[in-house]
Amino acid sequence: MTTTPFDFTGRHVFVAGGSSGINFGIAQGFARAGARISLISRSQDKVDAAVEQLKALGTDAFGLAADVRQPDAVKTAVEAAAERFGPIDVLVSGAAGNFLASVLDMSPNAFKTVVDIDLMGSFHVARMAHPHLRQPGACVIQISASQAFTPTPFQAHVCAAKAGVDMLTQVLAMEWGPQGIRVNSIVPGPIADTEGLKRLAPTEETLNAMAQRVPLKRLGRTEDIARMAMLLASDWGSYITGAIIPVDGGLGLTGPRDFTAAAAASRRETR
Ligand code: COA
Ligand code: NAP
Repeated sequence: MTTTPFDFTGRHVFVAGGSSGINFGIAQGFARAGARISLISRSQDKVDAAVEQLKALGTDAFGLAADVRQPDAVKTAVEAAAERFGPIDVLVSGAAGNFLASVLDMSPNAFKTVVDIDLMGSFHVARMAHPHLRQPGACVIQISASQAFTPTPFQAHVCAAKAGVDMLTQVLAMEWGPQGIRVNSIVPGPIADTEGLKRLAPTEETLNAMAQRVPLKRLGRTEDIARMAMLLASDWGSYITGAIIPVDGGLGLTGPRDFTAAAAASRRETR
């Protein structure tokens, strides 16, 4: 993205899971629009690299290694971020994990791991950040997935977790609306060059099939998601809360995807 119609100069944007992929793309979008960015993810190396790239865009950035499954680590990180950049104007919650596996190929810990990262992690981030959200005016954006409302074989863990994320979005919108805090979910479609898409379409064949299935006939770009995040966080989004917003080129209209071939390819690669 080279230009932006949005101006977030001096605003504080906190991004959970912000060191790579879609969430990093969102961080870059806000950074280009003048915001100061704080971010967390598990890997200190990834956090450091992301912070350096954001600073190179001419803004201030700060990051800490923290696992969203650990509420105390999240609390420490949001406190440090608020100390550094002040109240949080935009909270992006997008840490997630995924792999293709049928229920019978999944141990209890495999299912729990994704629910812990995606759903419990979103709860921890929202819960621990709340004392530091600007009131009124803060905007919370949760990154969901179409699995939240499309039952999808090989994705039971993600379907269950992201459905919970969207329900959390809607309840928070109701509980926090009176405080002037808006809460929405963005549902990305298949976004090119991301870990998430690599895991669902691990071969060229499955990737092409995915792109062809999208009514707009292309994979998404991280900028597509960043633009929606900025629109939601701007004055143009000021009456939008509790919404679950697909940014997916229309893919969600086409029903459940068939991951049988991708799951077989992914099993060949990982086992
Ligand atoms: N099929 C079945 N089970 C799998 C699996 C697969 N492909 N990959 C991992 N698991 C199981 C593990 O065997 C383990 O269960 P067990 O203890 O009963 O053996 C459980 O999931 C947890 O795996 P582990 O590697 O210990 O978890 P982690 O916390 O280190 O990593 C993951 C979490 C598994 C989600 C990992 O893939 C990850 O870190 N993902 C982040 C990146 C990502 O997924 N990006 C896309 C976002 S959409
Ligand atoms: P990604 O690059 O792997 O992004 C996930 C981020 O979360 C990484 O920065 C990762 O960094 C971090 N993370 C993972 N587990 C964490 C944990 N326990 N605690 C803290 N941080 C953690 O993948 P992506 O594809 O861009 O996905 C980003 C979001 O978009 C996810 O919510 C995903 O469900 C959603 N989504 C993606 C697609 C797609 O096409 N890619 C489609 C629909 C929805 P560390 O490894 O350093 O922890």
